[in-house]
Amino acid sequence: MNRRYRKTIIAGNWKMNKTPSETKAFAEEFKALLPKTKWCDVVVCVPFIDVPAAVRAFKDSRVAVGAENLYFEKSGAFTGEVSADMLADLDVRYVIIGHSERRQYFGETDITVNKKVHAALGVGLNPIICVGESLEQREMGVTMDLIALQVKSALAGVAPEQVRKCVIAYEPIWAIGTGKTATGEQAAEVCSFIRATIRGLYGARIARGVTIQYGGSMNPGNAAELLSHEDIDGGLIGGAALKPDQLMAIVHAANQN
Ligand code: 13P
Repeated sequence: MNRRYRKTIIAGNWKMNKTPSETKAFAEEFKALLPKTKWCDVVVCVPFIDVPAAVRAFKDSRVAVGAENLYFEKSGAFTGEVSADMLADLDVRYVIIGHSERRQYFGETDITVNKKVHAALGVGLNPIICVGESLEQREMGVTMDLIALQVKSALAGVAPEQVRKCVIAYEPIWAIGTGKTATGEQAAEVCSFIRATIRGLYGARIARGVTIQYGGSMNPGNAAELLSHEDIDGGLIGGAALKPDQLMAIVHAANQN
């Protein structure tokens, strides 16, 4: 990480876990563990149904609440969907876009990801844009081509002053929920490549200000090493973010760098 130019952001992604009551219990326990001094930004991304409980519970703390998805249309006949306006109205600050689970199970494409990024930025939400290759793609040697395509399509039409609000999360699919973490070198290589891709699009000054996270089996044991790399500015954490003490241990790991 490089604190001089960009924010360090530790973000939890709860996926489809926790009820509103469990959200409240998590928040109380997590807030009690928060250090007095601010080391990094902390975000908890929760299922839609948990958003009001999370916003209420984290109000007056420095934990920001995020959602895990949104729909790109403003409003209308889209049964079951949630718009950017609806999230912004609830004081949600971040939204995960294009998680590999959404690409894999719910037909998310680079085109819908781009539309969602615009919808989020349009109401002032910070998109956390997920990119990452499968094991087969890594073995075929096309990782960087795929990452470039995902980053460029996600940011298509995004104005330079809005790119600063975007967070990119590099999440190799083979490392998600598998306990198999990318090595610091593997993660850093792709995160540096993502920054170089942004540099190619927007120039060096803007690229150095963008927060790039790593996600995929990040835990209290491996976080400090991953975060010690210059271009890894935080984590997007699944399993370990469900337990207040583990998520807090990762926040502490961010402070060791
Ligand atoms: P795990 O930390 O459970 O591997 O999940 C990572 C992830 O998908 C975060 O978005």
